[in-house]
Amino acid sequence: MDQLLAQIAKYKSEIESETVTSKEELESFRIKYLGTKGLVKTIMGEMKTVAADKKKEAGQLLNEFKIFTEGFFDNLKNGFGEESGNGAPSIDTSLPGDPLPLGGRHPISIVQNKIISIFNRLGFSVAEGPEIEDDWHNFTALNLPENHPARDMQDTFYISQNPDWLLRTHTSSVQIREMKKGQLPLRIICPGRVYRNETISARAHCFFNQVEGLYIAENVSFADLKQTLYFFVKQMFGEKVKIRFRPSYFPFTEPSAEMDISCLICGGTGCNVCKKTGWVEILGCGMVHPKVLENCGIDSNKYTGFAFGMGIERITMLSYQVKDLRLFSENDLRFLKQFTQAV
Ligand code: DAH
Repeated sequence: MDQLLAQIAKYKSEIESETVTSKEELESFRIKYLGTKGLVKTIMGEMKTVAADKKKEAGQLLNEFKIFTEGFFDNLKNGFGEESGNGAPSIDTSLPGDPLPLGGRHPISIVQNKIISIFNRLGFSVAEGPEIEDDWHNFTALNLPENHPARDMQDTFYISQNPDWLLRTHTSSVQIREMKKGQLPLRIICPGRVYRNETISARAHCFFNQVEGLYIAENVSFADLKQTLYFFVKQMFGEKVKIRFRPSYFPFTEPSAEMDISCLICGGTGCNVCKKTGWVEILGCGMVHPKVLENCGIDSNKYTGFAFGMGIERITMLSYQVKDLRLFSENDLRFLKQFTQAV
């Protein structure tokens, strides 16, 4: 019995010193220790020589030795990335993982998300509409007269199958869809892509992104519009930015205005971006025209509202000092990689 114990201890330390560096060596190990004529089988044969009253104890010892040898073999095998005996893939969970290359957000998305989160804080929720629109939602309901130049083929992409269909020229069409639902008060912003038949240049593209805002309730005033936009500009560009409103004209608002902010590039002293004026226009706005409310089935004696619309590209260009609008749609990674941080 003592002899058997000593033998087992010796074999164990012999096995522990074994290393394998190839599949062939692994197989030699298996044959040497676990094969039909291997060491484990041979030493099992020693049972014959053990006295009857020690057989139980010896059986246990030999069994443990067999399990030890098999376990050692499995470990060696796993080191080769082989399937382990139980079918589970042999993965070393302590190894560091393969890094997944992380993409960054597109600058337009970063700015759009920031605009959305500012208006969310004021209680505006996001509404979306289709990019292929019909004439009524894009023009007629918004009080654009039949002969308005924006309806011209020169400016608008029409869909050839149906003369009534077009690619929306602004996200104002989403206002109409939301107002038609008849749930008031209404406080929404509508981000999305719009299309215009423009010659592509550093300042214009045939597709770009807008965010439209709309607030309809009882007693909404122009002062509410101004306060909302003041809040937005301060949150977006910081406290120091100056703001001014200029009277303007849009068929769907009355009165209408355009809003400028002091140039972020030169700080108001005058540069190429602000054409030496110190001011940059960032949005159009106004009180929703009563005709537009009526077109959507809203009582214009009871309800009033304001609307505004801004181009996301323009705001992104100002925020990041990007000088050419075409960069946003060229998918050049050298450009896109620069925008991992929010403005
Ligand atoms: N739809 C206008 C455009 O695309 C932007 C706009 C101006 C939207 C005034 C409005 C608004 O809601 O009140 O140029």
